[in-house]
Amino acid sequence: MLQDGRDPGVLAHAAAVLAGGGLVAFPTETVYGLGARADDDAAVGAIFAAKGRPPDHPLIVHLARPASAATFGADLPAVARRLIAAFWPGPLTLIVPRRAGVATAAAGGQASIGLRCPTHPVAHALLAAAEALGVPGVAAPSANRFGRISPTQAAHVQAEFGDALLVLDGGPCEHGIESAIVDCTRDRPVLLRPGSLTRARIEAAAGEALHDADAGSAPAPGTLASHYAPRATLRLMSTSMLGEALRLLGPQAGGVAVYSRTAVSTLDPRRRAGARHRVMPDRPDAAGHELFAVLRELDDLGVSLIWVEEPPDSPEWEGVRDRLRRAAAA
Ligand code: TXA
Ligand code: MG
Repeated sequence: MLQDGRDPGVLAHAAAVLAGGGLVAFPTETVYGLGARADDDAAVGAIFAAKGRPPDHPLIVHLARPASAATFGADLPAVARRLIAAFWPGPLTLIVPRRAGVATAAAGGQASIGLRCPTHPVAHALLAAAEALGVPGVAAPSANRFGRISPTQAAHVQAEFGDALLVLDGGPCEHGIESAIVDCTRDRPVLLRPGSLTRARIEAAAGEALHDADAGSAPAPGTLASHYAPRATLRLMSTSMLGEALRLLGPQAGGVAVYSRTAVSTLDPRRRAGARHRVMPDRPDAAGHELFAVLRELDDLGVSLIWVEEPPDSPEWEGVRDRLRRAAAA
């Protein structure tokens, strides 16, 4: 059931559900999360079961306060401490060495653990209320079924899991794409997943360059090329390819939806295609904010194809480009 995440009575109830080993979905500044207490392997197991997620895909543990990182992480690397000081609370997840024996199921058995301290007021209030009941951290993946589009509105979560799940409604998520993830367990920091925080800002605070996950080595657990999949087939196209495809489309236009920064009247001046169209914002933060909601909406039209114009190849668009490429790889 959807409940108002700003209502103190609702928050107190939700914290008690978490403390008792139950599941609660809650808003963060990135996307909605599906939470369970991180120190309870059975409660965490219920997350994997609900999502249909393989148990070796590690979860992020959400903390009420930066200081709680020491509960889960052992010997925080210096670069992690610098990034915590710069960006927590906020949309950045850090992979650090795990304290032995702590949150084993949440970590998917890894020797490391992903930690994040969210800034969303509802997430923060829930984590603080749960902490007061003895919950040291809340493991929470995005609140979607495995491989599907992450939810950025409470109604998306309900559509994924039905009415039995307690969902705290905190309105649409500000950033709309998941947190950036930096692995701090190697000899140099590695950007495992780009987010709304730009690489340049993270590097400035880290005091060193971020490396990319090595294409030759095994992917980080839970990092899949194909992800965020709508039911329709998503194709990413250059502006000229998209224009050409629209001009060739003709009567099948009903099965196609278009999401592009360039107006359809420019792409297809004679407007023969008449495909359904949404305009992508010119700013990457605005595009990230609406991206997953737009993909859900276009998918819900029942089209078989979603054609998306490639976003600009500039650093501020890295997070949005990454999500679109994964959606197109499905
Ligand atoms: O913005 C977010 O990060 C959202 C909100 C709810 O906080 N959460 C989220 O969780 O996106 P999830 O489970 O959908 O993605 C977490 C990713 C996994 O794909 C996994 O690759 C990575 O974090 N991860 C977590 N722990 C890790 C670890 N110990 N080592 C490597 N990667 C890890
Ligand atoms: Mg996810």
